Parts: sequence; C-alpha cells; structure tokens
Amino acid sequence: MNKIPVIIDCDPGVDDSYAIALAKSHPNYEIVAITPVEGNVPAVFTRHNALCLRETFEMEHTKIAYGATEPLVRPYFRDASGTHGEGGIGGIKLPDPTRAPEEKPAWDVIYEEAVKYNGELVLFAVGPLTNIATALRKYPDLPKYIKRFVIMGGGTFGNVTATSETAEFNIWVDPTAAKEVFEKLEVYMVGLNATHAAAVEVKDFDEMLEITASGKNKQSDYLNKLTKFSKENSFERGQDNNVIHDALAIAADMNEDVVKFEKFYVYVEDREVENVGETVIDLKGESGKAPNCWVAMKVDQPLFVKMMKDMCKYYAEM
Ligand code: RIB
Ligand code: CA
Repeated sequence: MNKIPVIIDCDPGVDDSYAIALAKSHPNYEIVAITPVEGNVPAVFTRHNALCLRETFEMEHTKIAYGATEPLVRPYFRDASGTHGEGGIGGIKLPDPTRAPEEKPAWDVIYEEAVKYNGELVLFAVGPLTNIATALRKYPDLPKYIKRFVIMGGGTFGNVTATSETAEFNIWVDPTAAKEVFEKLEVYMVGLNATHAAAVEVKDFDEMLEITASGKNKQSDYLNKLTKFSKENSFERGQDNNVIHDALAIAADMNEDVVKFEKFYVYVEDREVENVGETVIDLKGESGKAPNCWVAMKVDQPLFVKMMKDMCKYYAEM
C-alpha cells in the first residue's frame, strides 16, 4: 500500500515531540516535511528542536523547512517555556543536528509537496497557524491539493489564563492567521475539550516510563526523559503536560475510533477584544452559517493511552 504523505507544522515542544514520534511510528505515514513555527518557545528553539528530532527519530527522508518567527500581526510576546521547559523540550539536550534545513521556507515546501502528491497530502498543524496562513496567502489554490487538514488548537474552552479563559494557546498566539485558515480550509479541530478528555494519568505515565526505560536506543532514551518531564511538570506543577495535546491530533487521524468529530460553524475572534483567540463554535446552529469545521467532541481516552504505550513499545523493541 502506498504510504500517506504527511506534513507536521509544529512548535516543538514537548507534546509536539510525542506527536512526531507517534506519526513516525505509524506504518502508513511518510512524514515528508516538518515545518517549525514560533509558539511554545521562540522560533530559534523550535527550529533547532525540529532538526534534532529529525535525527533522533531517524527521519532520513523528511525535509525540515523553517517557518515564521513572528505571528502575522500580533507581536510574539509570550511563550510557554514554563510548560515546555528550557529550550522547549523539557530541558533535554539532544545531540546537535548534522543536517541543515531546506533553503526554501515552510510555506513553499508545504505547497510544493501538496502539489507533488496531488491531493493526497495530510497536513497537521499543532502550533500557531502562521505558516499555514502564509502558505494560503501565497498559494490561494493550496486547498485543492490538501486531502485533510488536522489541527491541535481551539476548542470549547481556553488555556491562555493570563488573558482569557476562552482562547487556546495556538490560536491565541496568531489569531489573524487562524481566522484566515478557518475561512479557507476545512479544519479537523482537535481542541482542548478533546485533549483534556484524553489526559494521561500518572499510572499510565509510569507504564510509559517503564516501557521506554527498557529500550536501548536514542528514541527510547528521549521518550523516557520526555515522559519523566511531562509527569513531573503536570497538574501538580500548575501545568498540563499530562495532557499530550498534539499527539491526540495525530492519533485522531491514525485511528478514527479515538476521536468523534461533529461539524459546526466556527470562526476565530481575531479582534483585540476580551475573547481574542477564541474559536467561537456555533454548537446550536444559530448562526445560520454553513458548518465549516469538524470539531472533536468525544474521545476514547483508554484507546489513546494504549496508542501512546504502543508507540513507546514500538521504539523500545526496535
Ligand atoms: O494549547 C496547547 C497547544 O499549545 C499545544 O500544541 C502545545 O504544544 C502548544 O503549542
Ligand atoms: Ca504544539
């Protein structure tokens, strides 16, 4: 069977790392590119981490194409380094990368790969949507080449508690980009209501630690350190790292039983008002507008946790 070409636009990132590891472990995916964007930490770190992760997970055929360093309009004035630790991956020091990124920027690579695979490309975005919006601005016909577009972002409640209980971080960092993306692409939105429903409990983290500790390779070593950081830096520390947000977006595409989507009309508030960055979901169908977004509404948490453990076993047994 031909593998499904995928691109992961991300801001690695602790949960972004799990998402990349999960996608790489899937036999049906070919990760043709990873395109880092500003987000959890400044782009200098997300870029470096993307290069390092390519080599840690031995993704020889994956292009790394650098994306935006700043949101389209808003200044980049907050990062989540508290949640993601120094450097954005839990303070874990990976070996310096030996391969360089592509010359071309993220938006050009996204478009070129989408055209190359002629409508078969699955595009994941698990960070702010600056790169995706930039690609759509430069290449208005990009949507016709995208098979499916899945994001981790938005949802029925927020997590940017400093300014809003309604905005989720990825959307809030660049609401202008998100607004444009939701207007131009059909989005499969795996939001906070879904990711929190899939939160990983301590006992499951302990099993993931045990499995990854049994692996004698760099992939398992990294996953072991990442899991230790996630467990220690979770709710009890005021963070939500036991909510492995981005991995759920990948899992939702790998196995349709993990997440149940329902279609609603959704728009993004991009004005500088109190709920800036909110994905406003017309749950009651009162807007009179046609549904444009598949919203993750139900989650099979045990199945998601099993997929995460199976991913750990995949690497441990390599
Ligand atoms: O709100 C959670 C999202 O913001 C995740 O993608 C996390 O990595 C951060 O980017
Ligand atoms: Ca992310």
